Amino acid sequence: MRNVRTLGLLGTGVIGGGWAARALHFGIDVIAADVKPEMEEWIRGAVANAEPALARLTFAPLPPKGTLSFTTDLKVMAQRADFVQENIPEQLALKQRMLAEVSRYAAPDVIIASSTSGLTPTDLQRDMVAPERFCVAHPFNPVYLLPLVELVGGHKTAQSTIDAAAKFFTYIGMHPLHVRREVPGHLTDRLQEALWREILHLVNDGVATTGELDESIIYGPGLRWAAWARISSITWPAAKAACGTCWRSSAPV
Ligand SMILES: NC(=O)c1ccc[n+]([C@@H]2O[C@H](COP(=O)([O-])OP(=O)(O)OC[C@H]3O[C@@H](n4cnc5c(N)ncnc54)[C@H](O)[C@@H]3O)[C@@H](O)[C@H]2O)c1
Repeated sequence: MRNVRTLGLLGTGVIGGGWAARALHFGIDVIAADVKPEMEEWIRGAVANAEPALARLTFAPLPPKGTLSFTTDLKVMAQRADFVQENIPEQLALKQRMLAEVSRYAAPDVIIASSTSGLTPTDLQRDMVAPERFCVAHPFNPVYLLPLVELVGGHKTAQSTIDAAAKFFTYIGMHPLHVRREVPGHLTDRLQEALWREILHLVNDGVATTGELDESIIYGPGLRWAAWARISSITWPAAKAACGTCWRSSAPV
């Protein structure tokens, strides 16, 4: 993969704005493309809004900030970008069409990634030119603060694409997680959905209100999950010692 100096964004809403703020902060130029011209003002506002939080993200010395440009012409964006991140609405047919179009204009060594929350890469890369340079790169909102990005390859994705994408995302301060097999919803949103299903059952059965369920997470396991997650919290030695009985019975802690 080429050295990424300019990140191209297709779609500049919530997620496109987050990608822009993060990349600019780490010294990458951004060319953002959206069908709606009014999104230029929106994305500039989103970048400015992220600035105070980003400034507190790391004490490490950083290169000078990148510059942001905007276009409504997808072709201009695709021809100038060294890496393209697509963030348009979650509709398979629309994404397939737009990804195919971007792939006709972007040089074959330009990686094209999708922020899709649930669609699978094999479906998305179906009509692309050089589909081996495509992968899913699923971030979490707000993208400028949350480091996780799930990388998922489809049937035609080259391993070198995943490796190169991971290198780029690491450079802009992210934590790439390679998902071994494509499944709808990738990994993290499936876990979130499982919790959501239980929330709906508990509310439906009158066991708790939504506010009470939020409290049960915010003031309890939510704090611990941020540091140790679900699985490491039951294997960490101190957690085992602290939970004696429940650990021995394998009950959740
Ligand atoms: N919102 C989240 O929390 C979140 C988190 C992770 C991933 N995602 C994924 O990111 C993607 C974008 O979500 P979002 O929340 O930013 O949506 P959004 O509605 O905020 O933004 C979508 C943008 O795409 C633009 N657009 C529509 N058609 C276009 C086209 N043909 N060419 C160029 N631009 C076009 C729209 O004008 C809009 O500005 C989706 O695939 C979603 O699943 C969303």
